[in-house]
Amino acid sequence: MPGVVLVGAQWGDEGKGKATDLLGSRVDYVVKFNGGNNAGHTVVIGDEKYALHLLPSGILSPGVTPVIANGVVVDIEVLFQELDDLVSRGVDVSKLLVSGSAQVIAGYHRTIDKVSERFLGKRRIGTTGRGIGPAYADKINRVGIRMWDLFDEKILAEKIEGALDQKNHLLVKVYNRRAITVDETVDELLQYADRIKPMVADTSLVLNKALDEDKTVLFEGGQATMLDVDHGTYPFVTSSNATAGGALTGSGVGPTRISSVIGVVKAYTTRVGEGPFPTELFDDMGEYLLKTGGEYGVTTGRARRCGWYDSVIARYATRVNGITDLVLTKLDILTGLEKVPVCVAYDVDGVRYDEMPTDQTAFHHAKPIFEELDGWWEDISGARSFDDLPVNAQRYVRALEGMSGTRISAIGVGPQRDAIIPLHDLLH
Ligand code: GDP
Ligand code: IMO
Ligand code: MG
Repeated sequence: MPGVVLVGAQWGDEGKGKATDLLGSRVDYVVKFNGGNNAGHTVVIGDEKYALHLLPSGILSPGVTPVIANGVVVDIEVLFQELDDLVSRGVDVSKLLVSGSAQVIAGYHRTIDKVSERFLGKRRIGTTGRGIGPAYADKINRVGIRMWDLFDEKILAEKIEGALDQKNHLLVKVYNRRAITVDETVDELLQYADRIKPMVADTSLVLNKALDEDKTVLFEGGQATMLDVDHGTYPFVTSSNATAGGALTGSGVGPTRISSVIGVVKAYTTRVGEGPFPTELFDDMGEYLLKTGGEYGVTTGRARRCGWYDSVIARYATRVNGITDLVLTKLDILTGLEKVPVCVAYDVDGVRYDEMPTDQTAFHHAKPIFEELDGWWEDISGARSFDDLPVNAQRYVRALEGMSGTRISAIGVGPQRDAIIPLHDLLH
């Protein structure tokens, strides 16, 4: 012990990368357990800004062993690009381990992601187009390609043949695209085999041994609670378990190994892609949060939809993840507002909901019931202790804490590594 899980509590982009980086010097392993290069985590260290997609953010901390675990879908070309980019910037990436059981994203997954979104028309999800959903679909359909398969050409060809069998019918007959050949896909994937081989390991074994030796393992979630395929706003979700349970199945570590669960939550809310979002703002205030918060996707560059803090979602995230500590980020972005509305419950067709409605129709009809808190004007980006915050900012934090069902253990006041107010130790 301890195994510590870190997850997003909203719709992603809460600042998980920064929160992971914050703990980097105190942990031995950082594990990516779900998703793929749909994620975009920004870490700012001094004047340097890093955008990480497939690699866990812990790769930037010198003592950390970064791990891509079995629950991840890996686009190997993107992985190599990311590694090369970091190496050119002087980052040591030599300790990276990749699970042999992780799924591989092939060209046909990216193609199907894009054409199926086009086909859905107004029912589209607004995916990142990285092949994530089709790769997970293949995993569940038992026609996925795993890292291990790259090291046996005969098996690889057989598996690709199985994977393409139905897909080519779909591509040609439904989507009007050309068929993809087994040979071209074998060539595509085999070219990576030699370089990836030394990184591939039984990462479940490595992590369990590390935990036996009292090493600290941080499981860094991609995406977030409301994008989780089971607990999110289905079908407007990603295709993996981004909640804390995913850290276990996604890495081969048991629940008894986890000592705490950190939820990262923004002081307001954003969402990229389609789907319901009760506190979304369509007026100047939405534009203000977008501009002031720099809310543009790290992966696709899309403008994020913006809205006020939603405590119904925070309570829900606390419950489904078993969150023990919240890291509240981007409080600095709210500086300068006369009043800051916070959603305390929903009105669904005249009925008050204090808890998240699980039926999709009800959630689509949910209208936020706001409580207005007093704002503050003072620049808080230099605050490093709770007492440094203006009294109304302190009240805002305490009010959010009361509504969100668990304690706030750190407050972000800027993108830089040190722009943080620690309240409780996050590793306990
Ligand atoms: P992630 O996907 O959860 O890792 O988050 P992203 O990196 O996609 O988006 C979070 C953005 O907010 C990044 O640009 C961070 O540099 C930035 N950020 C993180 N914490 C803070 C904070 O406390 N204040 C401000 N102003 N920016 C922050
Ligand atoms: P991080 O880790 C925000 C969204 C997409 C889309 C839906 C499904 O940076 O928080 P997918 O390509 O996964 O099939 O798309 O999920 N999405 C994210 N939104 N942050 C992310 O990652 C996301 N990863 C996926 O916009 O709505
Ligand atoms: Mg992000």
